[in-house]
Amino acid sequence: MFIRNVLTTLIIGLTPVSAALASGGDGPAIPSQDWSFSGAFGTYDKAAMQRGYKIYREVCSSCHAMKRVYFRNLEALGYNEAQIKNIAAEYTVINKEPNDEGEMFERPALPSDAFISPFANDNAAKYANGGALPPDLSLITKARGNGSNYVHALITGYEEHPPHGEEVAEGQYWNTYFPGHKLSMAPPLMEGQVSYEDGTPETLDQYAQDVVQFLTWGADPHMEERKSTGFKVIIFLLMFAGVMLSVKRKIWSDAH
Ligand code: HEC
Repeated sequence: MFIRNVLTTLIIGLTPVSAALASGGDGPAIPSQDWSFSGAFGTYDKAAMQRGYKIYREVCSSCHAMKRVYFRNLEALGYNEAQIKNIAAEYTVINKEPNDEGEMFERPALPSDAFISPFANDNAAKYANGGALPPDLSLITKARGNGSNYVHALITGYEEHPPHGEEVAEGQYWNTYFPGHKLSMAPPLMEGQVSYEDGTPETLDQYAQDVVQFLTWGADPHMEERKSTGFKVIIFLLMFAGVMLSVKRKIWSDAH
């Protein structure tokens, strides 16, 4: 009984809190997806993350920064050093230090650089987006309750026409799952928009699944290590409980 209680407590402790948080607000309940990374033994799906990164790169990154992710972190998606160098080199950054003549200069990005932001600053980002600021996506699946399911629901939850009696202003869109329903992001993805080389279906739902795998990893890159450490701790505690139990039995049998 004791052992079962310890095990249950530990497993509950390991499950990400975000999964337990139900969606707040006035919208309909957010549908739960069957993520490879949920549960005590969940892991990220590298192929899905690579497809998700492609979506981020080709679509989302024209408005959303991910300042906390560095090119070298892409190793976790299964890319090797040479591939990462090539990916980084497709971008240009302004070097932090001036050159010998004191001039700032541009150079190709290196694996040690962070992802490049699409706008010079927040004001420029707002100006280009009708006054709304596209948030940095580095931590988005953690910043929203039930984040992975929420972002999936958001991307797939647009309605072409708002419900009867509702109106959306110019530059706004109706979304079933966005709090308040009216947001300034046009539907970012539609079927067939991003091409997949591995034969995975190019559907809206699949795109949303894949980009969320990528964003969830971006917000929690150490999840797998944490879970495997947690598992080792459980094994250790079970063995320790077993030892203590036999010690207790021994002591009490001597006492009789
Ligand atoms: C053309 C610009 C643009 C593109 C492309 C774009 N977004 Fe957005 N996004 C925005 C803007 C603007 C907002 C802020 C909307 C608001 O607050 O009304 C936003 C908000 C969001 C939010 C936050 C919603 C919330 O709860 O506050 C998420 C998540 C998001 N975008 C994800 C994505 C993903 C994933 C992609 C790529 C598939 C993407 N966006 C592509 C402009 C864009």
